[in-house]
Amino acid sequence: MQQQWNWLNQLMMRHYSVRKYKDEPIPQETLHQMIRAAQHASSSNFLQTYSIVHITDEKLKEEMATLSKNPQQILTAPVFLLFCADLKRLEYACQKHGTQVRHDTVESLLVAVVDTALVAQNFALAAESMGYGICYIGGVRNNPEEIGRLVNLPDKTFPLFGMTVGVPDEKHEVKPRLMLEAVLHENRYDESKYPELLARYDEEMARYYAQRSANRKQTNWTESVAAYYSKERRLHMRDFLGGQGFWLR
Ligand SMILES: Cc1cc2nc3c(=O)[nH]c(=O)nc-3n(C[C@H](O)[C@H](O)[C@H](O)COP(=O)(O)O)c2cc1C
Repeated sequence: MQQQWNWLNQLMMRHYSVRKYKDEPIPQETLHQMIRAAQHASSSNFLQTYSIVHITDEKLKEEMATLSKNPQQILTAPVFLLFCADLKRLEYACQKHGTQVRHDTVESLLVAVVDTALVAQNFALAAESMGYGICYIGGVRNNPEEIGRLVNLPDKTFPLFGMTVGVPDEKHEVKPRLMLEAVLHENRYDESKYPELLARYDEEMARYYAQRSANRKQTNWTESVAAYYSKERRLHMRDFLGGQGFWLR
C-alpha cells in the first residue's frame, strides 16, 4: 500500500482561488473528461442529486456575471459551470415505479447539497491537476431566482454555486488554513482550545493579509468572520427554496 506523501497532496496544498484567467479555451473533450472524473465522487445512497449547467452562450454568461456580482471571474473565464442541487431526475426515477420523490425534507436537501458539493470539489481537483485554476461562485445565490429562470431550472432544483475554470492569469500565495488541532478533535469535542488557537491563527492571518502580493489588508481571521456575520445574508434563500419545492419538513 502506498503511504508516502504524493503529488496529489502537494497539488491540494497549492490550491488558491483564481479570479482572472487567460484567454485560452478549454477543449470540450478535456472539460467532459474532468466532469466524468468528478462524477465518481461518493454519493449519498447513490442518488447523484446534482446537475451541472455549462454556460456557453456569451450573452447568458454576461447576465450571470452581473447577477452573481462576480464579473471579473466569470467574464475572463473560458468556462463557467452552474452547479445545481437536483432532485428532479429522482422524480422521474420514482414515477417509473409509481412512487414520489420526498424532496421536501431537511434530509433530502442535505443529501442534494452534499452530493453537489462533493462532485464540484472533485471537479476542482481534476481541473487543478490539469493545470487549470478554479473559483467557486457562491454569488449565484445573490439572485438565484433570476439565474434559475435564465437556465430553465425546474422545481426540485436550485443553483447552489457556480464555478469558473481556466488557465490562471494571476498567481497568489496560498492562504494558510486553520492549524490541524483547531479542526481535529480526538474522541471528544474540545472547545476549550479555541481562544488560544484563534489568537495564534489571527497572528498568522494578519501577517498573511499584510504581506501577500495582491489585495493587502490590515485584518485577521476572527475580524473577517465577525464582519461577515455583522449582517444577515441572503435571507431571500428561504422563500426561493420554498418556491422550488423545498418548504422543509
Ligand atoms: C461555496 C463557495 C462559494 C464561494 N463563492 C465565491 C464567490 O462568489 N466569489 C469569489 O471570488 N470567491 C468565492 N469563493 C472562494 C472563497 O472565497 C475561497 O475559497 C476562500 O477565500 C479561500 O481562499 P482560497 O480558495 O484561495 O484558498 C467561494 C468558495 C466556496 C467554497
